[in-house]
Amino acid sequence: MTESAGPRFERLLVTGGAGFIGSCFVRDLLARRDGRRITVLDKLTYAGNPANLAPVEADPEQAARFRFVVGDIADPAAVGLLVAEADAVVNFAAESHVDRSILDPEAFLRTDVLGVHVLLEACRIERERARKGERTAAPRLLQVSTDEVYGSVETGASVEDDRLEPRSPYSAAKAAGELLVNSYFVTYGVDVVTTRGSNTYGPYHYPEKLIPLFVTNAIDDQQLPLYGDGLQRRDWLYVSDHAGAIEHVLEHGEPGGVYNVPGEAERANREVVTALLERLGKPWSLVRSVADRPGHDRRYAMDGSRLAALGWRNRTTFEDGLAATIDWYVANEAWWRPIKSGEFQDYYRRQYEARLAGSREAS
Ligand code: NAD
Ligand code: DAU
Repeated sequence: MTESAGPRFERLLVTGGAGFIGSCFVRDLLARRDGRRITVLDKLTYAGNPANLAPVEADPEQAARFRFVVGDIADPAAVGLLVAEADAVVNFAAESHVDRSILDPEAFLRTDVLGVHVLLEACRIERERARKGERTAAPRLLQVSTDEVYGSVETGASVEDDRLEPRSPYSAAKAAGELLVNSYFVTYGVDVVTTRGSNTYGPYHYPEKLIPLFVTNAIDDQQLPLYGDGLQRRDWLYVSDHAGAIEHVLEHGEPGGVYNVPGEAERANREVVTALLERLGKPWSLVRSVADRPGHDRRYAMDGSRLAALGWRNRTTFEDGLAATIDWYVANEAWWRPIKSGEFQDYYRRQYEARLAGSREAS
């Protein structure tokens, strides 16, 4: 189907749509006012926040095409009913933070593996119903995955057919989810597509990840805990580009296809921190060199040729995206201050107290 013929999928089930990237996908898609309808299914874990969808709720035309259901993707009853009504499922739901997966791996297996299995089973049942003529078409499932499934990439850039070599409980769970997705394509013919996105940043990002943590800490003149030598490299992708690429793959991806979504902005962590301090007008002396993350992947890098051949181009440079992100956090303290004063405090102590006590000024 071509762009001018309109979107292929009218009724979307977006799981994890109250999180960082999922909520951007929902906001951007509904703001296009093309008639599509979205149901969000979200468990509202610590990372899920209905405030991320406030712009949708505040707009009557968008709100009329939007429904929010609190629930777990690992719950077959809740999932079955919603998948039965959907033309496509876009699965953002996950435990997503590597450091938390090192502290408490189990939740990652439940959501990122078993939850994916529940979604796949529901799609398999709906495919069978379509085959019997009980619905017009089988649903498509888009699994949102990550460049971390390739493991640490010392040189060059990962292509989609490379071996998966995940090294953290988080990335191992995401890789397991992907393998299940592929198995349902091969074995049952379920219509699936998978995206592997790189490190994403932007507004509404829960302040546990590098950029939002360091920006919000720096605003308050708090210490910035830089792991190890800070020379680890990540490829930074602006959130609306990531969401846009996912929508593009949903519409145009080959059944069973896997697509890298690189940010085309590889930077060492130190470079990122230098840039954000510069924009905020804060000193490097806030940065503390702390004990490294166990099993820390040194570098991620992906080749984006397959996605480019499908017709997708990112729109935001790292410099513009970082500036917009920092300015958003400066202007939206009412969004992040309540988050940092709740459950976050316990997590922060567990993750950083001993590290910061044993830290030194970063060179
Ligand atoms: P996030 O942690 O901000 O949001 C995850 C959302 O999923 C939250 O709203 C949470 O409440 C919900 N959720 C968690 N468990 C659930 C469950 N069992 N049932 C229903 N909802 C549940 O995550 P994010 O950064 O927006 O990442 C979204 C997806 O993109 C994840 O699958 C992640 O692995 C992937 N990804 C993230 C990045 C990144 O840099 N943030 C990069 C590549 C891929
Ligand atoms: O690459 C995609 C992945 O990017 C996603 O799949 C994950 O969901 C997402 O969390 C992110 O994982 P990272 O581990 O790369 O992101 P994080 O922001 O946690 O860390 C980025 C880099 O910064 C990494 O090298 C670790 C470092 N870091 C991070 C934190 C939180 C620090 O030095 N200090 C910190 O306090």
